[in-house]
Amino acid sequence: MLDFSRQYEEIRTEVLAAIEAVCTSQQFILGPQVASFEAAAAIACQVPHAIGCASGTDALWLALAAANIGTLDATTAHSPDVVITAPFSFFASVSAILRAGASPILADIDPRTFNLSPSSVEAVLATPAGNNVKAILPVHLYGQCSDMDAFNALKQTHNLVVIEDAAQAFGATWNGVPAGALGDAAAFSFYPTKNLSAFGDAGLVTTPSAALDDHARVLRAHGMRRRYFHDEIGWNSRLDSLQAAVLEVKLRHLPRWNEKRRALAARYDQLFQSANLTGATTADGIVLPYTDPRAGHVFHQYVIRAPRRDDLRQYLTDHHIGSEIYYPLPLHLQSSLAHLGYKAGDFPESEQAAQEVLALPMYPELREDEQDAIVKAIRTFYA
Ligand SMILES: Cc1ncc(COP(=O)(O)O)c(C=O)c1O
Repeated sequence: MLDFSRQYEEIRTEVLAAIEAVCTSQQFILGPQVASFEAAAAIACQVPHAIGCASGTDALWLALAAANIGTLDATTAHSPDVVITAPFSFFASVSAILRAGASPILADIDPRTFNLSPSSVEAVLATPAGNNVKAILPVHLYGQCSDMDAFNALKQTHNLVVIEDAAQAFGATWNGVPAGALGDAAAFSFYPTKNLSAFGDAGLVTTPSAALDDHARVLRAHGMRRRYFHDEIGWNSRLDSLQAAVLEVKLRHLPRWNEKRRALAARYDQLFQSANLTGATTADGIVLPYTDPRAGHVFHQYVIRAPRRDDLRQYLTDHHIGSEIYYPLPLHLQSSLAHLGYKAGDFPESEQAAQEVLALPMYPELREDEQDAIVKAIRTFYA
């Protein structure tokens, strides 16, 4: 799916110099590189505050906890705080809500964008359980922002907190505003496959709120303001300086890399169209990714809906072409989440997407001849 070495070759000198500076300073945890990356990320996201942390999963948890959603104290009675999110996402979108001591309620996705559907969220808000909803957690899946016009309107009418799961969407925009600046807080992941990636695990919370920034900083360091005086039960979710140094170098290149992803996505579209492979549904052919006109998509993934998806994937594997299914089993059907009480059929759009989606190779260094070969193999499979 990805050849990381191509990007590394391009930035090798810059990255090694940045790593060397950390080694020379010997300040490995929350060192000056962390503050410097946080400042650069805040500018990129057009927000006043960015807080580095250990992973995207932790960033989700930190954002929720810093916004006082759920209860951190397992000894207190069960929190009635409810957070609505999508079942068609990575597991952390739901597990972080549970870890924060809140209760997830799921709502189905929009079949065109694969993102949380505002009308499904409204339907939940209209039920009795809707009274306990404290937050909405839309996921900007595959690099396209969720419908933040709709979610911010619901925030106003229902007095909710909006937390963006922006793990896959650094540099994406909605109406020209960057992901990370579209809600009360946002969580980013820098897992190595992400469009902005570290050399290991790393994450970031962004927020327009000074109070939330302060709370997140305390929570990521065991609830300490003064060393060894713990005002609340936080966690160790510090970002280390080596990762921050790598991220700051990569952040400088990200606008160009995201532009390259968009160009490659447009080229995939055009190749599939000229091969007459596309359709409005999988009954007619391959369904190409849909971009909302308000969204600045960064194509963290290029995801098609494919007829006979599993056979196609096997064929591509047999021909040494990488592909991936994000995600094969919606979260409401995961065994560890059975206690949420959902069953097959509850979220038909998510379930259908899980049967049909296929992510094709997509990274800025993907070459046009490789893209041609991928589309040719797909054409041969359907012929
Ligand atoms: C949508 C989404 N949310 C959360 C995460 C969690 O990020 P991490 O793997 O950095 O913990 C990821 C990445 O895997 C993700 O894709």
